[in-house]
Amino acid sequence: MSVVSLEVHDQVASVIIDNPPVNALGREVRAGLLDACRSIDQDPSVKAVVLSCKGRSFVAGADIRELGKRPLEPYLPDVLAAIEGSRVPWVAAIHGTALGGGLELAMACHGRVTAPSAKLGLPEVTLGIIPGSGGTVRLPRLVPMRTAVGMVTGGKPVEAEAAFDTGLVDALSNGNLLADARAMALELAGQGDPVPTLSRRLVPGDPVDWTVEEGRLLKRSRGATAPLEALATLREGADLPAAEALSRERARFLRLAASHEAAALRHIFFAERAAGQSLKSVDAKPVDLTHVGVIGGGTMGAGIATALLLSGSGVRLIERNATAVEAARRRVAETLAGSVKRGVVTQAKADDALARLIPGDDYAALADCPVVIEAVFEDMSVKREVFAALDDVMPADAILATNTSYLDVNDLAAMTRDPSRLLGLHFFSPAHVMKLLEVVRGGATGARALATAAALARLLRKIPVVAGVCDGFIGNRIMAAYRRDCEFMLEEGALPHEIDAAMRDFGFAMGLYEVQDMSGLDIAWAQRRARAAHRDPSERYTHIADRLCEAGRLGRKAGKGWYDYSTGVAEPDAEVLHILEEESEKAGRIRRRFSAEEVMQRILGVMQEEGRAILREGIAESAGDIDVVMVLGYGFPRHKGGPMFMAGAR
Ligand code: COA
Repeated sequence: MSVVSLEVHDQVASVIIDNPPVNALGREVRAGLLDACRSIDQDPSVKAVVLSCKGRSFVAGADIRELGKRPLEPYLPDVLAAIEGSRVPWVAAIHGTALGGGLELAMACHGRVTAPSAKLGLPEVTLGIIPGSGGTVRLPRLVPMRTAVGMVTGGKPVEAEAAFDTGLVDALSNGNLLADARAMALELAGQGDPVPTLSRRLVPGDPVDWTVEEGRLLKRSRGATAPLEALATLREGADLPAAEALSRERARFLRLAASHEAAALRHIFFAERAAGQSLKSVDAKPVDLTHVGVIGGGTMGAGIATALLLSGSGVRLIERNATAVEAARRRVAETLAGSVKRGVVTQAKADDALARLIPGDDYAALADCPVVIEAVFEDMSVKREVFAALDDVMPADAILATNTSYLDVNDLAAMTRDPSRLLGLHFFSPAHVMKLLEVVRGGATGARALATAAALARLLRKIPVVAGVCDGFIGNRIMAAYRRDCEFMLEEGALPHEIDAAMRDFGFAMGLYEVQDMSGLDIAWAQRRARAAHRDPSERYTHIADRLCEAGRLGRKAGKGWYDYSTGVAEPDAEVLHILEEESEKAGRIRRRFSAEEVMQRILGVMQEEGRAILREGIAESAGDIDVVMVLGYGFPRHKGGPMFMAGAR
């Protein structure tokens, strides 16, 4: 069956794209559209055209699998030129999402009508490219340049209503989208020759301060070049005739599509969708997620509860005593209020979520929860007590999950009567925001537990990555390895602010030591002390972090850590330098300078080496999964594709 069909009823042609799952503009679709356009132009009975899509969405963009390869004819700009130059008006009927090439297609039509729930956007920069088929040239002919700058450089889709307000679409459909599009098409047909979008003038509006925009993007994009290229394309195109602007845009698009940055971002796009591969083929039914139990109302527990509440579940949140219960309830309420303040959740939604929270201190209340997630203090004996209690009160077929980030899931499973129902669900903080979920599969974890983890990830709109049991699973194990190596570099002569600066220059939002100061140095210190007795004395160990902790330098909350915060900002500190020099001397190391390049080479080398070991041991299912963990959970710059992508180990 053809992916593009053409039917004519009462002088109006219906061109329908049917290319599941998201109607991407692959070669066949482009060829089908061009054929339809030619047939229509040769059929005098046709007065107008409605272009629509089958399935869940209007066109969601170019086929990303084709990007980066040699473009195949017919090229999208030629197809759009044919539609725009048609002798009859084309109206796009948009439902779901019109993204990238999909929006470019809609903009080449002579009118646009959308379902009120539709979203429209040019997300190309998130794939390391810019629109390549007139997006930057047609958009400012439909909306003010300021709006165009926001859409093209930010890549975030806009809601139908905002698209209508700015002029991107001509009408919102209140009922029958196709009938409304047909009415608009006939109305346009009655107004004479269709007006090509490219023949319009730029929409007047407040001027754009290009220098200010450039500065803003430079700061935000952390080394990614596509947003700046997008801005430059709009700026350049604004002063050029449309035809010249189109050809410049295309040249830039082709150059970027072949870039390393675009390849890295495509890799992450597909790796995110391929993540949790083994969960997709689990042959079991997940448990019902209408009511979920959460144990522990600290930062993680409250965050997990918030994520569940915002996704529509009811949550029984258990704490030790009345005071802790009240503190946990308050923490959830404050987290929800924060989301309202940031404009990501409406007050009504937050109120509705909070109404589904039932905090308490009695484990017996969990008996009606088919799944419970433990998020108590990271200590084996505390967790053992929790699982012993859960084993007593939970129904025999309930799923038990632990949010441990380090502890042995198999040891915890051994505490329960039926270890097949236990698994790890490692959330990242803040749990209602971070998209990553490490699903830790214990030796005995059963199919129902895994199916439930997959369903939970879907419900919470998180990306699940399956990890086997080892110290730190995927992400924390890699972080522990490069953290250790960074301390070796400190001992060899590097300074904390130099390592941080190298990481920021590479594209991390923060350096390792800034992050440590923010989250506090004490938990890792306690872990090191707990393990001290088992340490192999022949293994290299630096005492630098321990010395900082002993000196009360526990991070921001103590006013000092790797940096001094007495002036309100992070400043390198003489006491830290003194400790470094002493420890270097004790270890017999002659301090030397490290270039930013060398720092990053060491960090990446360690990440990759540990990643390879993780793959060899079967802890991760694919190199792509490791990249997803590092990008979504540890601030690795997305536009570099992850450490394994950089190592060429796809
Ligand atoms: N080209 C090729 N495949 C695409 C695609 C595209 N433009 N957009 C989505 N897909 C594929 C996905 O890889 C996935 O395939 P899989 O089922 O084999 O894993 C499938 O379509 C569904 O996508 P998914 O993202 O899982 O569905 P969703 O409902 O959560 O989101 C979209 C749908 C359209 C919002 C989302 O897929 C998206 O943002 N796509 C990219 C849009 C884009 O950047 N377009 C510009 C391209 S230049």
